[in-house]
Amino acid sequence: MSRLQHFGWFLARGFGPHGWGHPYLDWDYDWTRPDLYQQSARELEQAGFDFVLIEDAPSLGSERTIDLRVRHAFGGPKHDPLLLAPYLFQATRTLGVIPTVNPAAYLPYTAARQFATLQHLSGHRLGLNVVTDTGSARHFSDAPPLGHDAAYDRAEEWLSGIRALWQSWDDGALAADPASGVYADGSRMRAVRHRGGHFAFDGPLNALPFPSGEPVIASPGGSGRGLGFAGANSDIQLALAPLHEKSVREYRARIHDAAVAAGRAPSDIRIMFAIQPVLVSSAEEADRLVAASAAPDDATLVQVARKQSSDLETDLTALDLDAPLDLAVFGDHVSHGSIRRLTGDRDVATTPLRVHLTALAKLGRISDRTGFVGTAEEFADLVEELGEWGNDGILLWGDLHPVTLHRTRRARAGAASPRHPAARPDRRRTARHPPRVLTPPWWRRVRVRAHVRAHVTQRAASGCGRQPFV
Ligand SMILES: Cc1cc2nc3c(=O)[nH]c(=O)nc-3n(C[C@H](O)[C@H](O)[C@H](O)COP(=O)(O)O)c2cc1C
Repeated sequence: MSRLQHFGWFLARGFGPHGWGHPYLDWDYDWTRPDLYQQSARELEQAGFDFVLIEDAPSLGSERTIDLRVRHAFGGPKHDPLLLAPYLFQATRTLGVIPTVNPAAYLPYTAARQFATLQHLSGHRLGLNVVTDTGSARHFSDAPPLGHDAAYDRAEEWLSGIRALWQSWDDGALAADPASGVYADGSRMRAVRHRGGHFAFDGPLNALPFPSGEPVIASPGGSGRGLGFAGANSDIQLALAPLHEKSVREYRARIHDAAVAAGRAPSDIRIMFAIQPVLVSSAEEADRLVAASAAPDDATLVQVARKQSSDLETDLTALDLDAPLDLAVFGDHVSHGSIRRLTGDRDVATTPLRVHLTALAKLGRISDRTGFVGTAEEFADLVEELGEWGNDGILLWGDLHPVTLHRTRRARAGAASPRHPAARPDRRRTARHPPRVLTPPWWRRVRVRAHVRAHVTQRAASGCGRQPFV
């Protein structure tokens, strides 16, 4: 029996120039204005998505790599997704909005207050994607950047401080009783004196407590420390792993073990695998695309290297394509998960850089589970199978340009429909993690039906659907 799957949309380039570098860019839109995102958010809501998650990185990177980031708009410019969120809330009724936030960028008290304000303004639809990128450290202080694991330690201290502030109003503190004239009872508010390794602040918070649960916490870390963070703190884990049964089950087991080790129940965390399907109208068209990608020329490899250089804050375009990759080129702050995505399981000491980049450029078929090119029916089969392996949901990956959205929505609209009444996930909490509502209204479950004929637009068939480098 296949489990119903949650659907999220990952706005992969953040709040930036969507469509840049694609043949479909030439539409009359302005990425700096809210209209495009509001329209897209409405469409996602209508198509049954649970949430949109907005990628972010506050920095243009190091001086050495700024140009790599901005020249093709892979890594910038990016506007602040937290400030886009209210516009999306205003345009929708049930869609969750999850901007990405970095603990380095917000002091806990300010963060707790701003997030609380948005949670109330949105009717409890805010989520936060907590990331630990340290490449932006120099914008926030002159202290040297933290190392990889230390950044997770700071994120944990930050989040637990924020939660303590959110919970600083005890039950009954808010009276709002016109008869007695009492608005709130100050004796029921906690001082929250925090003195930690990274932050020092006092409470209580000058914002109302939440009647229907705290903002949902998402996290994307794929390292051992990242999975530990998710197990202890997150409601949603954004997962990136090969989509075959063994790997999916193993990934899920690692998160669940981390949750149990932190005193939580496995069902407290939803695991959503990120997928960027390239949907085309026929199996033949899919085969053609995959075959065409098998032997990339050097220009294509340089394009892949540029994108990786932006993500890894390391200029790969300056390296010899035919020499093995020296891992010492990456600073300590560079994500282990991102490096692993480049090198895969290959022996780094002997494998030329060209082979790693070729593996990234090469597309695969959904039907044999070597990649994500296929028809909507094949995609529906894959989602169904993920449900059979006990998975919680998928995160579709792309920009919010009208062309991308219309293509995916039309494919998905034909293939998906709500089946069962929403099943409330387990709400048990341990003493360490007091009860709080983890299931805001936007946690609706939708399952892709495997055997519905999906309609894919002629645009997708003609190649507009291809976006391997987003
Ligand atoms: C689906 C997904 C979304 C991500 N979104 C962001 C993001 O918005 N900002 C960011 O800095 N990193 C983002 N990342 C990268 C991870 O944050 C990065 O791998 C992690 O922070 C580093 O931790 P790790 O070494 O534990 O993997 C994302 C990764 C995945 C798989």
